[in-house]
Amino acid sequence: MEYSEKVMDHFMNPRNVGEIENASGVGTVGNAKCGDIMKVSLQIEDGVIQDAKFLTFGCGAAVATSSMATELVKGKTIQEALEVTNKAVMEALDGLPPVKVHCSCLAEEALHAALWDYAEKNHIVIEGLKPPVNDVDELHHHE
Ligand code: FES
Repeated sequence: MEYSEKVMDHFMNPRNVGEIENASGVGTVGNAKCGDIMKVSLQIEDGVIQDAKFLTFGCGAAVATSSMATELVKGKTIQEALEVTNKAVMEALDGLPPVKVHCSCLAEEALHAALWDYAEKNHIVIEGLKPPVNDVDELHHHE
């Protein structure tokens, strides 16, 4: 099994590690199967994601995908950020081994959970955004 150079780079030098103080939205999700947890915090102003950070108790692929996912959503509108799916993140990383695909879901779901939190705090509805799940494994079990 081989990891792309980009995956290795984002694993060795993860971007956006940490937590945003007074974040606009925070989301935490886990995967019960592997036990990994991901927390994403977002700073949103005028509907644009100004900053994104993550913390994880996760495997290397979870670190690399959340590093890339947070990079990709910065500067994007909320609607644009919804297009940053786990598939888009994997493509940006030049792929992941099939057994690691589920790890990229952790980043996507934590991002969605943070957006959901933002929407709730601001009493808005984000079109196309589904309520967050606590256990990502349930959601992506059949993909
Ligand atoms: Fe759990 Fe990768 S093994 S996120």
